[in-house]
Amino acid sequence: MRLFLVFTLALLELTDGQLSAMFGNPIQAPNCETWSAWGPCVWLKGKEANSRWNRPYFDQLLPGRQGCRNHVFFRLLKDRWGVAFENFYNYLREMTMSEEQCGQCSYQQSCGRSCHRRGDVGMINPLFVAERRCMDADQRSACMSRYMPDCRLWPNKNIQLPNVTSSMQEIIDHLDYLTCVPEQRPDGPVCRCCCHPYTPDPVTFECELKPFIDQTVFG
Ligand SMILES: *[C@@H]1O[C@H](CO)[C@@H](O)[C@H](O)[C@H]1NC(C)=O
Repeated sequence: MRLFLVFTLALLELTDGQLSAMFGNPIQAPNCETWSAWGPCVWLKGKEANSRWNRPYFDQLLPGRQGCRNHVFFRLLKDRWGVAFENFYNYLREMTMSEEQCGQCSYQQSCGRSCHRRGDVGMINPLFVAERRCMDADQRSACMSRYMPDCRLWPNKNIQLPNVTSSMQEIIDHLDYLTCVPEQRPDGPVCRCCCHPYTPDPVTFECELKPFIDQTVFG
């Protein structure tokens, strides 16, 4: 059950850092002997055709022992939920119009080696994967996304999630993965989105850490 839950949530969380919401801090905890250096910031798309950001999620992780791509956690994730994960990722890619990192959604990872799970839940990193929001980019501005009714981008029933069980789907449906508000622009409405735990200010469209304001006021 524990492992199931871990992978369930991991499927959803690796792109947005909700690991932290569910499992305490996904920090470089001492239950791993070594931690790789922080990897590159993962993102949805780049302006240049050859940008690393135009590659699939898993390919953006560094290979080898210094990276996360071949880490046991990511290999298992890719094996079992790789297709679901890429479908989800490509959907976000399609919906997102912003080209720069935005919405406090871009994260980087570090992977632990020679790990164990003994110790206090709050003191260990049970996934052996640490992550942090990218600090080298200013991503406070809410991402501009294609408009859809109520700006509810996720979950979306049209996205195929193979190997995702109905109980996982249940969790997906109730996770505040993205919070989006509408913005009226001269060329039509768009949605402005921030990743958990941030929410967009409906006037400035900056991502902020505060309770979400009732969407009906703006919808
Ligand atoms: C579903 O999981 C099985 C077992 O890990 C795996 O072999 C298969 O490729 C997965 N299917 C998809 C579509 O990801």
